Amino acid sequence: MSPATNALGLDDVVAAETVLSHVDGEAGRLIIRGHDLQELAGRVSYEAVAGLLWVGFAEENGETAVRLGLGRARVAAFGTALALLPQASGLTPVEGLRLMLAALPDASNIPAHLLVTAAVPVFAAAIVRRKQGLDPVPPDAALGQAADFLRMVRGKPAPAAHVRALDTYMVTVIDHGLNASTFAARVVAATRAGMVSSVVAGLCALKGPLHGGAPGPVLDMFDAIGTEGAAGAWLADALDRGERLMGFGHRVYKVRDPRADVLKTVASSLKGVGNRVRLAEGIEAAALDLLATRKQAKPLQTNVEFYTALVLEALELPREAFTAVFAAGRVAGWAAHVMEQERTGRLIRPQSRYIGPLPQRAA
Ligand code: ACO
Repeated sequence: MSPATNALGLDDVVAAETVLSHVDGEAGRLIIRGHDLQELAGRVSYEAVAGLLWVGFAEENGETAVRLGLGRARVAAFGTALALLPQASGLTPVEGLRLMLAALPDASNIPAHLLVTAAVPVFAAAIVRRKQGLDPVPPDAALGQAADFLRMVRGKPAPAAHVRALDTYMVTVIDHGLNASTFAARVVAATRAGMVSSVVAGLCALKGPLHGGAPGPVLDMFDAIGTEGAAGAWLADALDRGERLMGFGHRVYKVRDPRADVLKTVASSLKGVGNRVRLAEGIEAAALDLLATRKQAKPLQTNVEFYTALVLEALELPREAFTAVFAAGRVAGWAAHVMEQERTGRLIRPQSRYIGPLPQRAA
């Protein structure tokens, strides 16, 4: 790829300074506010990590305060879900989520970072229920985000192992440097358009299959391949057709995405998915072999979305809702970046190089 093309993807451009997270693509390391991901995922709650990200930007940053604040905000957001469910029918879950988030007010008596973070799981759960022909379940303000999301989807409390798995997933994806959706959110925040508009922008960027839209297609790929033995031929055909293998490759990581290992462990811990984990390992090995021989210009490794697909499937969440579930994890990170950008950043306004025709000069 030429340097000019590289520049258009802004590969090595530093567009923000942040205290929030750092992706070390050479070492395969993700640092979140001074902690390696592995110190946090599965060890502390989503509320604790959201609070960690919000330190210095929001008053509520202790685990208990965040939990209470998010509980109250989920209850407040439920009214918007009820009001907009009819308009969301006929839309995909992520489209419905976009509609509902956009309807949140810029100003309310709930701090905006709490409102958006609480609203995403409430909206996503209501949309999933309605798609199944079921009434939405109101939030329980006493629960954590992961437990309440699963309860609102299922209509009954989820087993502790499922809550732990979803909480670990949400921590694993909570923040990830200046990824495309976070950058989009920061660009909007830099204009002072506010939290809701910035988070809507983040969601719109997340929706694409090259970013947060990948895990559903990863499962489609597992289904199409069917058995480990069929993986090599199926994947080779896909590459022959010029397709990208979903769940592989990353702009920053030159080695395996550390989040893939965290989520593989989570998937393996869930009952009933043993065969799917073995199938995934077989597909992963075949894909990495093929990518190493056919795409030598750039090291292509497994990314977070590959094992996300298995975790969310094991949690019995519908695959068309996977991107909305991703947003339920990432939203606290977007909110932190929006607050940081508002506090420390300038208007983001790069230049373009004009390559169109010049006006004809009058003779
Ligand atoms: N399968 C096959 N080929 C790939 C893949 C892939 N998954 N990823 C990149 N390539 C190829 C490209 O086609 C290109 O080959 P070429 O030079 O022969 O045309 C070469 O590798 C370089 O790719 P880039 O376009 O430079 O990769 P970029 O950094 O722009 O893309 C991305 C990163 C979008 C993640 C890409 O790897 C991809 O499309 N992966 C599949 C989708 C996916 O898994 N997305 C989730 C990413 S994680 C996240 O966002 C949360």
